[in-house]
Amino acid sequence: MAASETGRSGALSQGARAQRVTTRCNELATFTEEPGQIIRPYGTPALAAARAKVAHWMREAGMDIRVDAIGNLRGRAKGSDPTAPALLLGSHLDSVRDAGRYDGPLGILVAIEVVDRARQSQRARPFPVEVIAFADEEGLRFQTTYLGSCALAGSFDPAFLDLIDADGMTLREAVGTFGGDADALPDAALGPGEARAYVEVHIEQGPYLESVDAPVGVVTAIAGQSRILTAFSGEAGHAGTVAMHLRRDPLPAAAEIVLAAEELARQTSGLLATVGMIEATPGASNVIAGRANFSLDVRHPEDPVRTSAVSALEWRVHEVASARSLGVEWRIARNHPAVPCDPSLTTRLAEAVAAAGLPVEQLPSGAGHDAVVMSEVVPVAMLFVRCAGGISHHPAEFVMTSDVAAAVDVLDRFVDMLADEKLG
Ligand code: GLV
Ligand code: MN
Ligand code: MN
Repeated sequence: MAASETGRSGALSQGARAQRVTTRCNELATFTEEPGQIIRPYGTPALAAARAKVAHWMREAGMDIRVDAIGNLRGRAKGSDPTAPALLLGSHLDSVRDAGRYDGPLGILVAIEVVDRARQSQRARPFPVEVIAFADEEGLRFQTTYLGSCALAGSFDPAFLDLIDADGMTLREAVGTFGGDADALPDAALGPGEARAYVEVHIEQGPYLESVDAPVGVVTAIAGQSRILTAFSGEAGHAGTVAMHLRRDPLPAAAEIVLAAEELARQTSGLLATVGMIEATPGASNVIAGRANFSLDVRHPEDPVRTSAVSALEWRVHEVASARSLGVEWRIARNHPAVPCDPSLTTRLAEAVAAAGLPVEQLPSGAGHDAVVMSEVVPVAMLFVRCAGGISHHPAEFVMTSDVAAAVDVLDRFVDMLADEKLG
């Protein structure tokens, strides 16, 4: 480390800490199920290896670590009053398919820097600070979301354990292969009074902060989302011999729903509807599909608008199935209402942004975050970091190291404010 990167106390400079976060994001990007892309679904060897690396960094920052029954990594810095409710910081370590390198890891690594600063300055905080690397936020493998935070919040539905991945493995089995224990999941839940708040740093995943030239922004609320798995079933057959009027082809039916979802969202202010996954089986160019499976992701900041859009799409799915004599399946995988961030934590976070000499921008989140589930048990707040072009869930995801430095500075100040209040 160059001399200019350390202060008189030997502590790393702000810029060096931000550079370390960026370097570590790059290093975590090498933990993947498929070289050349970032793919780190729940329970995989790539996620386990990334978790081991983060555990190493947490230990270096002076934290005691443990892995809970679902596979969340929890690093804990005791603080001068180890029995006080802990401040929880963190984000998720799993990824989508062909992901960027900052969605999730950034929040974990910024939080580790904040804990490391207390170690370097030998100034214990008056309460424990825990950094959590959640094991599943994206839901890539089991088509659900927030498995990690549900376990910590004590809202893990045991029915999830019967979910099956693309290779036929149940979530119960996957928990076991990930070193967890499906029968001990209730033990992963936070106890009463164990935590005082959860605060997450995350890339914005949208273009607002870039448009106002602000490095960070304070999140006001997180939009609600519904994830639905649906399917049409018909009759497979020969593409060259079955006459068009005799076919029961589920794929054009699915295409009707793709277009219906797009049209509904375009006509409804603030509504977002996405079919991100579609699969036709048996899947050959000269075979009429027998079945089409597809997903629907529906989001809106106002819950009644989202739920009525979901009902309208369900009605349309059944209408299309009946008009085309197809079988139909409709399963709501997850429904999450919109979540407001805690007003008092959010005010403090805004004060920390101002104290860092940065413009105070406030914005809602269209993306889902572990903070949604954590809000069931503790007050939550979130800090967004500007990302290039608002691009996310894509390998081009990019965050400037100077913006990472801003986020580190703001989170330092925020934690110091809470510590000063506790001491004062
Ligand atoms: C998580 O990234 C989501 O919003 O889907
Ligand atoms: Mn994320
Ligand atoms: Mn994501």
